[in-house]
Amino acid sequence: MSDSLSTDHGRGGVEPVVRLDAARLSYGDRTLWQGLDLAVRAGEFVAILGPNGTGKTSLLKVLLGQVQLAAGSVRIAGAPARLGNPDIGYIPQQKSFETGVQLRGVDLIGLGVDGHHWGLGLRGRRERRAKIAAAVTAVGAERFAHAPLESMSGGEQQRLRVAQALVGDPKVLLCDEPLLSLDLANQRLVAELIDRRRRTHGTAVLFVTHEINPILPLVDKVLYLVDGKFRIGTPEEVMTSEVLSELYRTEVDVLRVRGRLVVVGTGDTIDALGGHHESEAARGESTPNAPESEPATATAANEHATTTPESASTAGEPMTAAGESERVGVRS
Ligand SMILES: Nc1ncnc2c1ncn2[C@@H]1O[C@H](COP(=O)(O)OP(=O)(O)OP(=O)(O)O)[C@@H](O)[C@H]1O
Ligand SMILES: [Mg+2]
Repeated sequence: MSDSLSTDHGRGGVEPVVRLDAARLSYGDRTLWQGLDLAVRAGEFVAILGPNGTGKTSLLKVLLGQVQLAAGSVRIAGAPARLGNPDIGYIPQQKSFETGVQLRGVDLIGLGVDGHHWGLGLRGRRERRAKIAAAVTAVGAERFAHAPLESMSGGEQQRLRVAQALVGDPKVLLCDEPLLSLDLANQRLVAELIDRRRRTHGTAVLFVTHEINPILPLVDKVLYLVDGKFRIGTPEEVMTSEVLSELYRTEVDVLRVRGRLVVVGTGDTIDALGGHHESEAARGESTPNAPESEPATATAANEHATTTPESASTAGEPMTAAGESERVGVRS
């Protein structure tokens, strides 16, 4: 995509909470992306999509002040990005909590409060406790918040991560694949928590995901990054066969099936569209290893959850495995 097509400035109104201008990200001589202009306003929900290794997490790290731009500028709430910025809440790309870590749910949330100034006196401690309790209630974690993290299910842990990221009342919430390995009910729950927050508090949300369908109704804007190229726009503007074919440099079809997006690619794009290596492995039988054919692969807009037969059947979603694109039945 040419940079001119990706320009995201010039729409009047309030000063954006997140602003990147002509941003370039490089590690050594390797440039991941450049010429990125992005403006995110209060209450806006931006989905960041793209295959593994295109620099989505690195983009969040730029906003967090952990990674420096090679060119251009980044501003958060009008100030340059910096480490320990209380204006930012962050749900990192998921790593399971190591066993042996005796942290309880409320302790994790407390880490989100501790970055802020509450004072050391009794009043400060009370306020801190009240903040944590409110965060626990906000994510519906009353039942398990006092249990050790290692004893919790993935969905329970993820709810607490959301609480931790929100407890400091940030202006921007950065979420790095927060729905990963959650079942459909928990995906919905976590997405709703985040959506409610941006509506009630005007929190701007940048949401990295390989699974746009669970959040599709919430998304104002998509940033789609592929191999140094990108496109920014509404889901209707970006999630089209034309735009994705251009980004992936090969024929990609985007189908709309019962209000959901199904992305169909061929050959090498299967990996890219599929997103997670683990999901490729998980669906084993779908590995496109028949040498004589290049099977088309449909993925419900890279939706991880629909790659398991169980969730696909219970949710009645289109199957995503290679060779099953016929079952989607909307190409003919
Ligand atoms: N500190 C670093 N130094 C050098 N290279 C790095 C560094 N951090 C990330 N990279 C490389 O930059 C590329 C982009 O990494 P990043 O984690 O941003 O990708 P991503 O889009 O989040 O991918 P995924 O979907 O797998 O999470 C990768 O190839 C990665 O190996
Ligand atoms: Mg990442």
